[in-house]
Amino acid sequence: MKKLNIAIIGLGNIGSYLYKYLNDNKEILTKKNNCIPFIKYISARNRRKKRNIKIKKNQWLDNYLDATKIKDVDLIIELIGGSEGPAKKLVFQALQNKKHVVTANKALIAKYGDQLAIIAEKNRVNLEFEASVCGGVPIIRSLKESLIANKISKIYGIFNGTSNYILSAMDKKNKNLQEVLLVAKKLGYAETNPSADLNGSDVMAKLKILSSLCFNSFLSKNIYVEGIKEIDTTDIRNANKLGYKIKLLGFAELLDNNIYQRVHPTLIKKDSYVAGIDGVLNAVIVDGKPIGQSIIQGEGAGPAATTSALVSDISSILRGNIKFPFSVPSGERKKFKFNTIDERLFSAYLRFEVIDKPGVLSNITKIFSKNKVSIKRLVQNPNINKKISSIIIITHKSKNKFLNKILKDISKKSFIKKKPKLIRIDDN
Ligand SMILES: NC(=O)c1ccc[n+]([C@@H]2O[C@H](COP(=O)([O-])OP(=O)(O)OC[C@H]3O[C@@H](n4cnc5c(N)ncnc54)[C@H](OP(=O)(O)O)[C@@H]3O)[C@@H](O)[C@H]2O)c1
Repeated sequence: MKKLNIAIIGLGNIGSYLYKYLNDNKEILTKKNNCIPFIKYISARNRRKKRNIKIKKNQWLDNYLDATKIKDVDLIIELIGGSEGPAKKLVFQALQNKKHVVTANKALIAKYGDQLAIIAEKNRVNLEFEASVCGGVPIIRSLKESLIANKISKIYGIFNGTSNYILSAMDKKNKNLQEVLLVAKKLGYAETNPSADLNGSDVMAKLKILSSLCFNSFLSKNIYVEGIKEIDTTDIRNANKLGYKIKLLGFAELLDNNIYQRVHPTLIKKDSYVAGIDGVLNAVIVDGKPIGQSIIQGEGAGPAATTSALVSDISSILRGNIKFPFSVPSGERKKFKFNTIDERLFSAYLRFEVIDKPGVLSNITKIFSKNKVSIKRLVQNPNINKKISSIIIITHKSKNKFLNKILKDISKKSFIKKKPKLIRIDDN
């Protein structure tokens, strides 16, 4: 029976769960893959740290980078994290020294994936990163293998469980973002520093990876990113009244040979599939030909879901399936134009908190018509006691740059009480 010698580097949440899983399921994985997954070495930062796993003598490497040099290591599993420092050093050196690599590190792949893929291809080793995007949702292997027949035109969905939990809890419990965030931290759904979840950068990294796999393009930095920090319960209530839910969505689309990538809170129809994905779940929707639409939904993070993805990658290597990291050889990846969303058409929800006095509404609507944005619906909610009014406008489709111009022009007006809001609507 063939054997694959594995080194697991990083034994935190994910690494220790994977270590235990591989030990407990060695037999069945061997049967399924016709090759033994053998954990030869492990390493982390601190040898003396108390861990919930049993470590055998001779398994521990004092210097984690030794895994890249030792002859009897075939596969290195990087579970340190971060786009720089030890994870970067480990993965570059491993591939340069002809070791297969499996990683869950989206930050590293989103930043250095193009360079790493070239080294992996040159040295004919695997670089696998299923676990880097949406944990238990097997979207990467689906794009590379199961959906190989398809020309993909669009990929979108909910790629961040923490922000999805926050938005759904704000909606269901009518609580503000800070209150819900505290609960999310207590439940282990949000990290101590949740900024990457709240500001959209976590979704951005995942979208970069998915977009290059869908369109055979290189990784691009040109992504419009807006997080959920500005969303409040009033927006959520307004959305409900108008027949929408608010979700943080990532979109990558190929339109007329231009790729548009964007991450932003989005109003979607209440009866749409995505609107029903609540809590920490992720969902990825792919539009392609000939398949039409395909949807995968599941747990986006956590040790169990992430281990499922890692074992899928490990099994692929056990079976000797060497693939191009980004589906096609690097030399064949296309140089598409990555467009900003300035010219992209959106209908939008805009909310203005204004002083309630005559002339304000006409002043606002004039700015809309000056920027050639037509209004589909207008709702005014006056608060007579405070002498303020909330004006909610739903627009017809207009170029993003005109919607932004309206926001900028109206923000400067003296009758504005609070920073105006703009949330794009997805009508599809
Ligand atoms: N947590 C999730 O739900 C999740 C989901 C999907 C993907 N991921 C990704 O999985 C990776 C690991 O995440 P995690 O949650 O397991 O992180 P973690 O709990 O912080 O674990 C990190 C591990 O890396 C080790 N490490 C740190 N610096 C090191 C160094 N200089 N040399 C050697 N080892 C070092 C740590 O060692 P010590 O134990 O000695 O401190 C620890 O074992 C990240 O890329 C993350 O983005 C995580």
